[in-house]
Order: sequence, then structure tokens, then C-alpha cells
Amino acid sequence: MLPSARFLICLSLLLPLTAVAGDGEASPDAERLETLLYQDCGSCHGMTLRGGLGPALPRDRMQALSPEALTHIIRHGIPGTAMPGWQALLSEAEARWIADHLQTDNRLKTLDD
Ligand code: HEC
Repeated sequence: MLPSARFLICLSLLLPLTAVAGDGEASPDAERLETLLYQDCGSCHGMTLRGGLGPALPRDRMQALSPEALTHIIRHGIPGTAMPGWQALLSEAEARWIADHLQTDNRLKTLDD
């Protein structure tokens, strides 16, 4: 095989890898996290977050908690209750994204509507 051909093959194998590695610390995947919030969290808190087995999670109520406390609840759950910890599925940044979403971009503003 000609060296140049071998070089080109190596290059073509490496390029996709560097493209993936270039993404590096990807920022939280908003679409995945939003789906998780309204479906997985929604299985207890209601698909519209109006409550079910777990309490409703309206924006105004979520703003009563600090972002840190909310992130902690999401990652570690509430011991002794049905609220599970999500740290196996959610990184700190991802839990923080959901906390931020609950406080600022939550589809359910308040229960008083
Ligand atoms: C298996 C059911 C279940 C699932 C799934 C679940 N929760 Fe909960 N959650 C609960 C229950 C029950 C409580 C209330 C615990 C208590 O009695 O304090 C709660 C409480 C909370 C609270 C505190 C609410 C408040 O007003 O004090 C937050 C915030 C919360 N959950 C967010 C989430 C998020 C975000 C997810 C998804 C990542 C999630 N929960 C998934 C059952 C669940």
C-alpha cells in the first residue's frame, strides 16, 4: 500500500473522532431534559406538573426554593418519601438546568389561574 493512501485512511478514521471529541463538555441537552421533566418527573408530578403522587411544581412555588436547594432535591431526592434521587441519570449541570427550567421557563406558572 502506498504510504499516502495509508495516511489518508488513518486521517479519515481520526477525523470523526476529533469531531466528537471537539464537542467535549457538551452543554445540557435541553430537548432530552425537557422530555425527562414532563414525562419521567411528570409520571408523579403530572404531565403538566399539576401534581399527582407528587405535589404540583408551578413556577411560583419553585421560585420559593433556591436554585441550589432545587438542584439538590432533584439529584438526591427527598429521603423517606417517594421522591427519588436522579443523580444516576442527571449530572449536576443537567439537574441545575431542570431547576432553572422549573423556576423560569416552567409551562405551569401558578396553580391560582
Ligand atoms: C416516583 C414518583 C416521583 C418522581 C418520578 C419524581 N418525584 Fe418529585 N416528588 C415526589 C414526591 C412524593 C414528592 C413530595 C415529597 C414530600 O413528601 O416532601 C416530591 C417532591 C418534589 C419536589 C419538592 C416540591 C416542593 O414543593 O417541596 C421537587 C422540586 C420535585 N419533587 C421535583 C422532581 C423532579 C424535577 C423530578 C424528575 C427529575 C421528580 N420530582 C420526579 C415524587 C416523585
